[in-house]
Amino acid sequence: MTSRRTLLKAAWGTVATGAVATPAWAADAGPIRIGLILPMTGQSASTGKQIDAAVKLWIAQNGDKVAGRKVEVILKDDAAVPDTTKRLAQELIVNDKVTVLAGFGITPCALSVAPLATQSKTPEVVMAAATSSITQASPFIVRSSFTLPQVTVAIADWAAKNKIKKVVTLVADYGPGFDAEKFFDSQFRLDGGQILDKLRTPLKSPDFAPVLQKVSDAKPDALFVFLPSGQGAAFMKQFAERGLDKSGIRLIATGDVTDDDQLNDMGDVALGVVNSHHYSAAHPSALNKKFVDAFQAANKFRPNFMAVGGYDGMRIIYKALEATKGEGGEKLLEAMKGQVFESPRGPVLIDAQTRDIVQDVYIRKVERVPAMGNQLYNVEFDVIKAVKDPGKSK
Ligand code: PHB
Repeated sequence: MTSRRTLLKAAWGTVATGAVATPAWAADAGPIRIGLILPMTGQSASTGKQIDAAVKLWIAQNGDKVAGRKVEVILKDDAAVPDTTKRLAQELIVNDKVTVLAGFGITPCALSVAPLATQSKTPEVVMAAATSSITQASPFIVRSSFTLPQVTVAIADWAAKNKIKKVVTLVADYGPGFDAEKFFDSQFRLDGGQILDKLRTPLKSPDFAPVLQKVSDAKPDALFVFLPSGQGAAFMKQFAERGLDKSGIRLIATGDVTDDDQLNDMGDVALGVVNSHHYSAAHPSALNKKFVDAFQAANKFRPNFMAVGGYDGMRIIYKALEATKGEGGEKLLEAMKGQVFESPRGPVLIDAQTRDIVQDVYIRKVERVPAMGNQLYNVEFDVIKAVKDPGKSK
């Protein structure tokens, strides 16, 4: 008996020693790879620049190891061309054996990868694109950004309660624009307002002159605008050049238009623009101040809402990998669902049913802030707590 026990002990000792050198469960435990697909060039390049910087900041602050394994981010530029996104995702899954796909600057790019995420059971973390339906395109999609219905209802409500009775809407002519147009329209009319006209501009190289002429002729109390991140400054310039800023027509928008990436360069035309969104670089929380300071020290530019989507997306990925000890697939997806945490934007939840983000939406006004270097910021003055994407229930 004793000798058997000794033998067993000895055998166990051998296995255990071997296990320390090369644990069986980690025999092929190389780095955990995250495939990050972003528009680093082209019209949406500011989104790529912002998210790339935020991912780097997350890693600098939290380390490049999770569950004892190295994390490797493989950055690919899709120039916001959906066919390219799809090809790059395929290569990342098949050749690089990534555990997670992340990024996705615009809606068509996020959607092009959905079937691949489903087939390969690879979680797809959407850090930027914001059309409501994206999370319904694959059960493997999780979103850390926002949705257009989520942020649009608040500004429609605010407008109706602030003596704005007649509105013209102007949106980019694709998914998120359709969401913004539809949800502004329904909320504003429900509140007793009237929509005089619905205008759309092409996603690529829009010329705002023809639509601004129509706005001028229609003479609404306000113009509501959604344009994707990167187009706000060009729009503001033309709005001012055509004298619309002095016409008595108020400008209201989603925060995509008064984007922190460009806001400070827009000049006085942006002052007083009331808008709704989920993130402002001026959000007055201790965590956000820390985030903005660290981001600006590393980059010399201000983080915008895309950066926060990237930063929080990395948080979701890291916490999920910790929970699964580096395992991917369905287990990783499950570990992403239901996460609750404080983001630089405020408290957030990844809704386990919809895999979409639940968050506070703020009403803000563009102001010059003396305490912040006299720069232009979206200053929050009201909040709607814990907003779920209204697009899911319609
Ligand atoms: C999108 O394409 O989904 C998108 C891009 C930029 C935004 C919002 C939505 O600011």
